[in-house]
Amino acid sequence: MIDQQNIVNEVRSKVDIVDIISERIPLIQKGKNFFGVCPFHDDTNPSMCVSREKQIFTCFSCHATGNVYRFIMDYEHINFREALQLLALKAGISVANIKTQTKPNRYDKYYDIYKLALKYYQNNLNTNYGKKARDYLVNRQLDNKVIKEFEIGLSLTNKQDLTKLLIKKGYDYQTLNQIGLSNNDNDIYIDRIIFPLYDINGRVVGFSGRIYDDSHLNKYLNTKETPIFKKGLTLYHYHVAKEEARIKKSVIVTEGFMDVIRLSTIGIRNTVALMGTALTNEQANLLKRLSPNIILCLDGDGPGKKATLAIGQHLLQLGIEPKVIALDGDYDPDTYILTFGKERFESLIEKAMHFRDYKMKTLKEKVNLSSDEEKTAYIHQALEEISQINDEIHREMMLKNLAKEFNIGYNTLEKHLKDLLSKQPSNNNTLIPSKRNIPKYSKYQKAMFAIIYYMLVDNDVIRQFEKEKLYLPDETCRFLASEISYYYKKYGTIVLADFYTYIEDKKELLSLLNQIVAISFVEKVPMSVILDYFAVIKDYNKKLEVKRLQSMIEKETDPLQQAKIAERIRKLRVGS
Ligand code: UTP
Ligand code: MN
Repeated sequence: MIDQQNIVNEVRSKVDIVDIISERIPLIQKGKNFFGVCPFHDDTNPSMCVSREKQIFTCFSCHATGNVYRFIMDYEHINFREALQLLALKAGISVANIKTQTKPNRYDKYYDIYKLALKYYQNNLNTNYGKKARDYLVNRQLDNKVIKEFEIGLSLTNKQDLTKLLIKKGYDYQTLNQIGLSNNDNDIYIDRIIFPLYDINGRVVGFSGRIYDDSHLNKYLNTKETPIFKKGLTLYHYHVAKEEARIKKSVIVTEGFMDVIRLSTIGIRNTVALMGTALTNEQANLLKRLSPNIILCLDGDGPGKKATLAIGQHLLQLGIEPKVIALDGDYDPDTYILTFGKERFESLIEKAMHFRDYKMKTLKEKVNLSSDEEKTAYIHQALEEISQINDEIHREMMLKNLAKEFNIGYNTLEKHLKDLLSKQPSNNNTLIPSKRNIPKYSKYQKAMFAIIYYMLVDNDVIRQFEKEKLYLPDETCRFLASEISYYYKKYGTIVLADFYTYIEDKKELLSLLNQIVAISFVEKVPMSVILDYFAVIKDYNKKLEVKRLQSMIEKETDPLQQAKIAERIRKLRVGS
């Protein structure tokens, strides 16, 4: 394993965590450190600090912390091996020959079953039985290329085809029921066109089956929630949008996966589908990770409009102002493109409006323009809305439009806006997290933490620690310190950012390390300061020992023994 650790460290040292993170979220430099909005919790303030010197990130709010591997794994939802590959590519290092252990996942079996089921459905589409379904797809202008890309398949009319096949392959009914493919010994999907549903890593975790005749059944039948398929954590096409959003610098959100599929036929793939009109917090955070430039393009009908308002508002609360493509009446992106073509849709993307403009437009549509009262109420509402905008230029533009539209003096509106703005809490101090919630530690705890911290940044401290055989009174601290010593002996040196990966699997140690790093100790201190910390610990240990001996005396009945213990206490107290 030495080889692997060396390569892991080498790759890490060849990339700069600041570059890697800033490719994904905007960072602003402040002194030696960089700050950005933490992608690992709901936040709008730049609570995440990235240190170029230490090559680690730390969120002051949710306490997420780690090195570049941790960031990439959590941000991209990939495992260690994939993170290593991604970063090695950046660093120009070949990791082809490195064997990293991949831990078996307890849901591997589920994914395997879905792979088999998918193959089966895909094959059905090309058989004689698939003629009618193929006609339906042709009719919807979905050609073989797109059928392949989205792995579209077909379930047959027999009630037990898939279940029997999977049982023959050695799987049991209980599992098939659990993962939503069978109901008792019957198939769930009967005579439907099958669209696989993917998790954010692109693994098939469910299906949506569409009717393709005039039957009166539900249009789409979706896999139930299972351990590997949670609707509220899923966005259709996320695994593809991840790459595409980076290239196009935006992401388009639609309601249906058919919209995503249609958009792909005109070469637009920076897309995800909600599979409905609701957006959960988790999905909003996933979206936020794709791009700050989110374009909502839901259906043009009533529910679509309502959802656009709700989702836009939700995203505003997360510090993102989305854009909106408002389709007319009965269109969804799919039918719009079929009716008006690629160029017209592309021009809609160009012309997408800011969500706040969209919101004002919808508000205005409801106003009875012949009523002065309603007009006044609307203008106040609009001003309120404008006052929420951070960008001064955008604010001024909207104010000018409002003045023009209602033929009101610009200065009057501006005065009202200023009043509203002065009532808002100032945003100027949000760059550096103000309340850092640093817990209070006792003197000896702080000394322990400091010793561990400085062991990680200064090899001399490790040597001193070993030389004095210092006993840390807390067990977890003791383990962590001994891991540091061990690492140092094995590799001859220690770098904090590498050590993070080394203790990756030891959750307790990792969380202690996070706690210590969050304290932000002064970068470098002279050995005399370290020795003072040692002295604090020794003093604490001595007091503990005295206490222990005192309770021994109390229990002791033999006066001779009592005298002996008293002597030990005396010696401890004078420090010999
Ligand atoms: P839509 O009804 O807008 O679907 O529902 P669509 O994309 O236009 O589909 P086509 O064009 O009629 O084939 C949007 C999404 O809501 C979910 C599906 O995930 C769909 O993609 N839905 C809709 C269901 O789950 N069940 C339904 O019966 C209908
Ligand atoms: Mn549709």
